[in-house]
Amino acid sequence: MKKIIMLIAAIGLIIGLTSPVFAQNTVNGKNLIVFFSLYGNQKSVQTDADSSASRTIYNGKVAGNTEIIAQMIQEEVGGDMVLLQTVNKFSNEYKTVIEEGKHNKNTKFKETTNKIDLSGYENIFIGFPAWWYDMPDPLFDFLDKHDLSGKKVYVFATSGGSGLMRSISGIQKLEPNADVNKTGFHVFYTRIAGAKEDVKAWLKKVGVK
Ligand SMILES: Cc1cc2nc3c(=O)[nH]c(=O)nc-3n(C[C@H](O)[C@H](O)[C@H](O)COP(=O)(O)O)c2cc1C
Repeated sequence: MKKIIMLIAAIGLIIGLTSPVFAQNTVNGKNLIVFFSLYGNQKSVQTDADSSASRTIYNGKVAGNTEIIAQMIQEEVGGDMVLLQTVNKFSNEYKTVIEEGKHNKNTKFKETTNKIDLSGYENIFIGFPAWWYDMPDPLFDFLDKHDLSGKKVYVFATSGGSGLMRSISGIQKLEPNADVNKTGFHVFYTRIAGAKEDVKAWLKKVGVK
C-alpha cells in the first residue's frame, strides 16, 4: 500500500494548479457539511507543481478533493460547510504529509480548532480523505469533541482507492445515538471534478434530495 500512496504522491507532484479556494461558511439550513481536507491544513497554500494529489480544479478554482465534494453537496441541498482546521499544520511537501498523516492518536496533527454548535442541524454530512486505510486523525478529533446524538449522519470520502473502508460502522460506534446512514458516498481522487451526477444520485438514494 505504501507504494500506492507514494505513487499517488508522485502523480500529485506533476499536477499543475491555478488559484486556491477554501471552504466558505454559509448561513442557514438544516444541513451541516463538515469535512477534513489536506488543502487548507498545510503550512502555506500550494498552487503550483509543488502541490499534491490532494487538490483538483473545480469551477475554475483549486480546492481540496473532499472540499469539492462538500461543495457539490452544498450546491444540491444547501446548508453550512465547515472545514476542520488542525492546530498544527501539515507540511507543504506531500511526501512528508504521507508520513505525518500516519495514525497515532495524540499525534500533534490530530487536534482541531473547530467548536461547532450542532444544535439546529438535522443532517450532518461528514467528509474526509482516506488516510492510511482509515479516517484521518483530525476527523476522530471532531468526533471526540462533538455529540451527534439525534442527528442523521451521511458519510462521504475521497481516496486513491481505499473506498469508505469501515468508516460508517466506525462513526456509528463512536456516535451510538446518531442515525448513521449505511449508504455512504465515495469518489476516487481522479474523478472528483466530474462527480456531480454521482453526488446527486447518492443524495436521492439516501432521501436527502
Ligand atoms: C497521509 C495520506 C494518507 C493517504 N492514505 C490513503 C489510503 O490509505 N488509501 C487511499 O486510497 N488513498 C490515500 N491517500 C490519498 C487521499 O485519500 C486522496 O488523495 C484524497 O482524495 C485527498 O483528499 P483531500 O484533497 O480532501 O485531502 C492518502 C493521502 C495522504 C495525504
